Amino acid sequence: MSAHRNSAEHSPPRILILGAGGHGRVVLDILLHGGDREVVGFLDNNAEIHGRRVDGVPVLGGIDSLEKIAVRERVDGVIIAIGDNGVRRGLARTVQRLGIELITAVHPTAAIAHNASLGRNVVVAAGAVVCANCQVGDSVILNTGCIVDHQTMVGEGSHICPGVRIAGRVKVEPGVFVGIGATVVPKVTLGCEAIIGAGAVVLHDVPPMATVVGIPAKPIKRAVADEEIAAMFLPASVGQTA
Ligand SMILES: CC(C)(COP(=O)(O)OP(=O)(O)OC[C@H]1O[C@@H](n2cnc3c(N)ncnc32)[C@H](O)[C@@H]1OP(=O)(O)O)[C@@H](O)C(=O)NCCC(=O)NCCS
Repeated sequence: MSAHRNSAEHSPPRILILGAGGHGRVVLDILLHGGDREVVGFLDNNAEIHGRRVDGVPVLGGIDSLEKIAVRERVDGVIIAIGDNGVRRGLARTVQRLGIELITAVHPTAAIAHNASLGRNVVVAAGAVVCANCQVGDSVILNTGCIVDHQTMVGEGSHICPGVRIAGRVKVEPGVFVGIGATVVPKVTLGCEAIIGAGAVVLHDVPPMATVVGIPAKPIKRAVADEEIAAMFLPASVGQTA
């Protein structure tokens, strides 16, 4: 249910896009192609573009003004067009706490299997293909021309970049970034917040937070040590001294 009911019963839902950068322009284009929603404006934290227009749509203010602007503009829904996975996921929770509906945008040239599921705040760009029985979590970006094959799960807040090919029965955990043109073979798991380099070919499971590149994909760095990752999954009391 939308927090701000549209006064005109049959007018299209009024939408705000959070983020007026390159991805914001892509999301605007998808919504315009759909033709069944009215984009009333962008919000963006870059004060230099407030009051200007991006692709003909006004930038109404900063994202911290969301609540006020959503009421003033009688907004029915919001979509977050920010490429950074962590920022996008965090902001989605804020929007939900405010009681504002998060919408999903699917380009009319994308092909989504009848039994695939898409969460909220998902962007499916032009030419993307989502095959049978796929599950796509909230705040995922399936970018231009990517392929997600049968029974693959894409976790919350992941970004599958343009031209990526993910085979069947792959598990993409939350917050994963799969770089442009990468390929992932069947049944592997990409651990949470892993980064797959542009053009990589992933043949084996990738640990959480690892960055892998190349053909076949190999790690280049670990942002967090194994012990720190293990500690994240322990109860708070474990390891504390009396
Ligand atoms: C993987 C990636 C995130 C690494 O970025 P980074 O942490 O800044 O790493 P660096 O650029 O310092 O590179 C580290 C090493 O990995 C190599 N490397 C980086 N990316 C690589 C890639 N995609 N394939 C092969 N090797 C790569 C570099 O050549 C460098 O090697 P060296 O140490 O021998 O010189 C980045 O290179 C990448 O591929 N990003 C994808 C961007 C993308 O797809 N954007 C689309 C947005 S829609």
